[in-house]
Amino acid sequence: MPQIPLNTPFTAASTTADVLHGVDLRGREAVVTGGHSRLGREVTRALTTAGATVTVAARNPAQAAAALHGLPGVHIEQLDLTDPASIDAFATGRIDASRPVHMLVNNAAVMFGPQRRLDTRGHELAFSTSHLGHFHLTRMLLPALREAGNARVVTVTSGAARFGAIRWNDLNFATGYDPVAAYAQAKLANVLFTVELDRRFAGAGLRAFAAHPGVVIGPGPHSWQVLDSYRAQGLVDEHGTTVIDPGAGKKTASQGAATIVFGAASPLLDGIGGVYLKDNDIAVLDDERRPVTASSIPTDANSAMLDPEQARRLWDVSEQLLA
Ligand SMILES: NC(=O)c1ccc[n+]([C@@H]2O[C@H](COP(=O)([O-])OP(=O)(O)OC[C@H]3O[C@@H](n4cnc5c(N)ncnc54)[C@H](OP(=O)(O)O)[C@@H]3O)[C@@H](O)[C@H]2O)c1
Repeated sequence: MPQIPLNTPFTAASTTADVLHGVDLRGREAVVTGGHSRLGREVTRALTTAGATVTVAARNPAQAAAALHGLPGVHIEQLDLTDPASIDAFATGRIDASRPVHMLVNNAAVMFGPQRRLDTRGHELAFSTSHLGHFHLTRMLLPALREAGNARVVTVTSGAARFGAIRWNDLNFATGYDPVAAYAQAKLANVLFTVELDRRFAGAGLRAFAAHPGVVIGPGPHSWQVLDSYRAQGLVDEHGTTVIDPGAGKKTASQGAATIVFGAASPLLDGIGGVYLKDNDIAVLDDERRPVTASSIPTDANSAMLDPEQARRLWDVSEQLLA
């Protein structure tokens, strides 16, 4: 599918309510990983408001329940994306109950861990959570996704995918761990996974999207540990107040979640898949080398993140890692 914008009626400032206006999701079932915090919670709220039933998959269900405050239309189930047995149990329960999944939102992640951390199988935690866990979960849920007839899988990525690299010879950062490089590798993996998932299953009616939400730090107050970094990135002003500037990618939670629910449910994407979304549209493809600075991070698509050969290779490697 060409990475060409549709010129949708939405903008970077559009909210989940704008994107889902007139979209009736009654009778549709969604699974949202980490659907109880920041962007995930907003996705859960928006999909249930439009009528969907949402299963929030959380590693700590009690904490998730507290965060969701009894939101109607929500079920909470245990899922730890770094634990294969937990993923198997979650997916098996779903398949055994013969409940279709119309929308799977692979949202959960760990971001910029200052120290290198490994899961119990020795996989670096950002890659394990964002990519391997969601790869495993999606494949386990395939029967439920196929049963839905026209399901969508939205994997939440980041503009960081643009400057990420897959370290084929050292996926787990045995050497040279860097929090940004680890996050960018995981987020690039999210896009490559989307490309190959769509290639494999579009014919069966399952379409896949990668969605960049923009930068969402929440309303604050922000802890003193992050304030200097947020100031350097122009994310807060001199008083520590969150800057909202959607055109520059700095968004409210609803504006950030909008691109995710656009991928999950907008009829404008019917018949499309395997693309990277940004600002409630298919992102522009821009292969110019653009500098990444503290205050300006390019987030358009590039050809490297959509490379079908790299996407196939990552699929094969991921299968081997999970075998
Ligand atoms: N916020 C941004 O500015 C931004 C920008 C670009 C992309 N994104 C992407 O947007 C998505 C959501 O970001 P966010 O800012 O809303 O993140 P967040 O508030 O930090 O939430 C991350 C979620 O992932 C869950 N999680 C972490 N490890 C897990 C595991 N092993 N198993 C199951 N769940 C796990 C967390 O659960 P706990 O509550 O148990 O910790 C939490 O619910 C991520 O994919 C992120 O990469 C965010």
